[in-house]
Amino acid sequence: MKDSIRHLIQQALDRLSAEGVLPAGLTPAIQVENTKDKTHGDFASNIALMLAKPAGQKPRDLAEKLISALPPSAEVSKVEIAGPGFLNFFQNSDALAERLESALADARLGVRKANAHQRVIVDLSSPNLAKEMHVGHLRSTIIGDGVARVLAFLGDEVIRQNHVGDWGTQFGMLLAFMEENPAAAESELSDLEGFYRAAKKRFDDSPEFADRARELVVRLQAGDEQCLKLWQRFNDISLSHCQKVYDRLGVNLGMADVKGESAYNAALPGIVQALREKGLLTEDDGAQCVFLDEYQNAEGKPLPVIVQKAGGGYLYATTDLAAMRYRSQELKADRALYFVDQRQALHFQMAFEVARRAGFVHDGMQLEHMGFGTMNGADGRPFKTRDGGTVKLIDLLDEAEQRAYALVKGKNPALDEAELRQIAHAVGIGAVKYADLSKHRTSDYSFNFEQMLSFEGNTAPYLLYAYTRVASIFRKLDSNLDAPLEGRIVLQAEQEQALAAKLAQFGEVLNGVGEKGVPHLLCAYLYDLAGLFSSFYEHCPVLAAEDPETRQSRLRLAALTGRTLRQGLELLGLETLERM
Ligand code: ARG
Repeated sequence: MKDSIRHLIQQALDRLSAEGVLPAGLTPAIQVENTKDKTHGDFASNIALMLAKPAGQKPRDLAEKLISALPPSAEVSKVEIAGPGFLNFFQNSDALAERLESALADARLGVRKANAHQRVIVDLSSPNLAKEMHVGHLRSTIIGDGVARVLAFLGDEVIRQNHVGDWGTQFGMLLAFMEENPAAAESELSDLEGFYRAAKKRFDDSPEFADRARELVVRLQAGDEQCLKLWQRFNDISLSHCQKVYDRLGVNLGMADVKGESAYNAALPGIVQALREKGLLTEDDGAQCVFLDEYQNAEGKPLPVIVQKAGGGYLYATTDLAAMRYRSQELKADRALYFVDQRQALHFQMAFEVARRAGFVHDGMQLEHMGFGTMNGADGRPFKTRDGGTVKLIDLLDEAEQRAYALVKGKNPALDEAELRQIAHAVGIGAVKYADLSKHRTSDYSFNFEQMLSFEGNTAPYLLYAYTRVASIFRKLDSNLDAPLEGRIVLQAEQEQALAAKLAQFGEVLNGVGEKGVPHLLCAYLYDLAGLFSSFYEHCPVLAAEDPETRQSRLRLAALTGRTLRQGLELLGLETLERM
């Protein structure tokens, strides 16, 4: 709808320019917003205020001229001037009802991508395999998965890439430890965290062990078969840990999505060589660097992207350059999104810049770092266990499910054990995911079990429950949300109008999520939708409606609400329940 209004305004502007009322050559970005108070219209634009000055006219006068120049539209019932010169548009309820009818008839709920379809790389999760996954990887995994789902629903071709850290000096220490006691290593590897700690202790305590570790790194890098075997074994076990977490979280990631740092090893000398040929390399203290003038340190000196150390070793950035080249040239991506901690912002800005200058990515390729803030504990300090260690993801998820179990059992003691477990799983895991998804990606976020498991506010339990309420209407009819329904939508009551207007925004919200990589927009939308449904349900009897046409109309609205909630929750990666 906003797009249609923008289009109408554009036509009015063109007309006024042609008539000489507006100076020619104005190309303003036309802004249209949803209004909060629907009694003053459904959409508002500040275009007359924006153009008053360049046009040399009073805003309200210009607003008046714009209104008379607007072409007629079936979707708009009237346009009014408000305040200093805002244009307020009232949506035509018949046209709105028509929109909802077509959404009801469509498995994709009428959602279309606003811009051209693309092939998009989503770089997500990407833990370092040397250690067990911890809470820091939760955000990348969950937010990345949510955005990937939305893009795929909009019709983009999404390629997920789990850029795991499976290479580097820590592996020498781990291999040395595996080698020292192969039998024990196999059993201890099932506790990666413990294994890492034990290896580190050996490394710190024994100089001979440390030497052996360093030797093994060199041999690993030289492609020594025995070392590669151990390394492979280690990664297999570590990846199967990750896979357990993904499955438990209900995240769409599998072994086929893994393309770790080691996959680019063979390409790294070529990357350095290509940079040299382009004349982009400078040697600094023996290291190969690309200096970028626009990035400077505190003393105003240009910052380097180091691509090869003095000893010949390659770096994190070198691998990322190789990955960008692969994503552009081999995968032929139009866009690549990197869901990685905000603290790596500078790394990505600089690496993107180098990739462009070197021609590693094609000109039209969009490279976007989708950074996110730190996950803190409820006290606002970095999230740690009581003794200061990192919190293991698996432990966190166990606790979430246990708490959800107690909560659901408390509310509904009659449920049988199997159903209780299933609900606890959906609520517990859903709560953890939703809490993360519903905050703006770039802000730091406090992990708080009490808050995320509350049935009030913008939380998973609230939304999952709201969905079951809609589903229950249809259960009472021995039917379900997807069964065909007689009748037509007719919008009368204020609550029906408000609910309908919200339903019509689903596509626009999903487009926003896909463009900016911010799932919290979808969370906020579903939360509003659930609230509007509540007041509709309170004021507008559905099953008890006397007039059969009204009843059918309301049932259709309820069905579309239910399907929209279900689809939205699925796009966020939440498992919905029919009852709880
Ligand atoms: N393994 C890295 C880390 O844990 C994240 C990798 C992100 N992706 C990338 N292409 N650099 O910090």
